[in-house]
Amino acid sequence: MRRTGATSLFARSTLGQDDILLVQGTGGVALFGLQFAKAAGARAIVLSSSEDKLARAKAMGADILINYRSIPDWDREVLERTGGEGATLILELGGPDTYQRSINAVAAGGKIAQIGVLTGFGPKPDLGRLQSMNADILGITVGSREHFEVMNGFIAKHQLKPMNDQTFPFDAASAAYDHLRSARHFGKIVIAL
Ligand SMILES: NC(=O)c1ccc[n+]([C@@H]2O[C@H](COP(=O)([O-])OP(=O)(O)OC[C@H]3O[C@@H](n4cnc5c(N)ncnc54)[C@H](OP(=O)(O)O)[C@@H]3O)[C@@H](O)[C@H]2O)c1
Repeated sequence: MRRTGATSLFARSTLGQDDILLVQGTGGVALFGLQFAKAAGARAIVLSSSEDKLARAKAMGADILINYRSIPDWDREVLERTGGEGATLILELGGPDTYQRSINAVAAGGKIAQIGVLTGFGPKPDLGRLQSMNADILGITVGSREHFEVMNGFIAKHQLKPMNDQTFPFDAASAAYDHLRSARHFGKIVIAL
């Protein structure tokens, strides 16, 4: 299980009921972020390119749903739908296509956890707003054993189950990767060993 979401939300921040977490897309990292946010009593914003996936995220407890295909300036929408506050925590998964909008949508004193590079490497963000909002960027690459144990304790306490999209047998592993590449999945893809 990947631990980036937990490290970002609990070890390098203190996710709680006053938070508004924004996750980008409906892949494995984003949906675990959503589950953690709801279990911690926070509000959650989910971005997706698919109305169907947004409906599924809503069923998981997401509070604000934004289709980033039909609303490409989702940063403005985040500010509007949070009464101008923005997101206090953002799991930044997109890279060049999303980085500037994350900076535009972060709340005063908020945090952006730099985790993913789904749209490539090398964003060139304008950091001016980060400075004026007293916001932070956290560089995240997995976590420690201690973080893992804290995360597992939280998962057990709240009885969280990963959102698994589909399980492939080991000898169909290449089909699992094709499925991941197609981005039709919702949550995690499992290869059984
Ligand atoms: N730092 C680390 O240690 C660490 C650990 C784990 C993962 N990662 C990275 O984190 C990223 C996410 O991992 P994952 O396993 O969750 O990936 P994933 O399951 O492949 O996520 C794919 C989903 O991301 C969404 N997406 C793609 N482009 C987007 C965009 N421009 N705006 C918003 N959402 C977009 C899409 O959601 P919709 O279909 O809903 O539109 C897509 O289905 C990857 O880059 C991965 O390499 C880093």
